[in-house]
Amino acid sequence: MTALLKVTDLVVRYGLGGRAVAAVDRVSFALNAGETLAVVGESGSGKSSLARGVAQLVRPHAGIVQFDGTLLTGAKGSRLVQARRGLAMVFQDPVASLDPRYTVEESVAEPLRVHSPRLKSHERHQAVVTMLSQVGLGPEYLTRYPHRLSGGQCQRVAIARAMITRPKLVICDEPTSALDVSVQARILLLLKQFQREQGTAYLFITHDLAVVRQMATHVLVMYRGQVMECGQVSALWDVPRHPYTELLLRSARSFRVAPREAASSPVAHAGCVFEDRCVRAQARCAVQAPALLATQGGASACWEAVST
Ligand SMILES: Nc1ncnc2c1ncn2[C@@H]1O[C@H](COP(=O)(O)OP(=O)(O)OP(=O)(O)O)[C@@H](O)[C@H]1O
Ligand code: SF4
Ligand SMILES: [Mg+2]
Repeated sequence: MTALLKVTDLVVRYGLGGRAVAAVDRVSFALNAGETLAVVGESGSGKSSLARGVAQLVRPHAGIVQFDGTLLTGAKGSRLVQARRGLAMVFQDPVASLDPRYTVEESVAEPLRVHSPRLKSHERHQAVVTMLSQVGLGPEYLTRYPHRLSGGQCQRVAIARAMITRPKLVICDEPTSALDVSVQARILLLLKQFQREQGTAYLFITHDLAVVRQMATHVLVMYRGQVMECGQVSALWDVPRHPYTELLLRSARSFRVAPREAASSPVAHAGCVFEDRCVRAQARCAVQAPALLATQGGASACWEAVST
């Protein structure tokens, strides 16, 4: 199967010259149509930067992003708009992700104005009404502004806005972490429903490891901008091969250190970036970085995982 999204050696840097740090450091992965790849890692590990680099909201320093047979990296202006037609994003803060000056109808209709400019206004209106009903909001919400909506309702509007062009891929950056648990569950069900009905693929960033099992078939574990481990959720969550994945899972299970609490800023490092926290580190780990090599059910960037 040809991947819907193929990312090769992506690098996202912030800052200039010698002070620039790679928030995303040579990350590669593929995502098939209709599947969900979860991205996990501590705060600062580069998850949002990866999302922004994939969507070209920040220009990657290096690497290739191919989406639905088209090269996103390097595309500009109308060519980029065209290439991104089948891609949408849902962000963590539902209130901030909506323009406070726009009514619900204006917000949800906006992607249609950009991508389907030939639609007549009554057709656009009908598409918005239908879309809102799919996310559980009646026509009484059309004229409301974001400040008159709850967080959960705002996220439903943001999802309606993302889904109205029937995208093949939606990048979700912690879409439920700002919401109450019961609202979270309903939003996740809604996203799953779209996947079943429309074959939507998700690149799903989360710090909630239970959500990974619920939403994703595959997972990418990031630390300091790099991929530590990737593969099928069923394989990795049962038998993690990388010490960092082990730590994440153990922490989440014992509720000692939530993955979000520890900071994982990018560093310039000749060896393994996890070496200073790794209980299995050996002498070569400090000087030689392990490549991401195949293990059972995935791939792991660890000398130990490779040799066991
Ligand atoms: N606009 C920016 N300018 C400079 N540095 C940035 C910028 N955005 C992110 N960074 C840095 O890049 C690194 C990765 O940040 P990023 O937001 O991608 O992490 P994250 O995994 O999404 O974290 P969180 O879980 O807290 O959302 C961090 O060190 C962060 O401080
Ligand atoms: S390469 Fe070495 S330091 Fe890095 S995770 Fe594996 S054992 Fe630990
Ligand atoms: Mg983030």
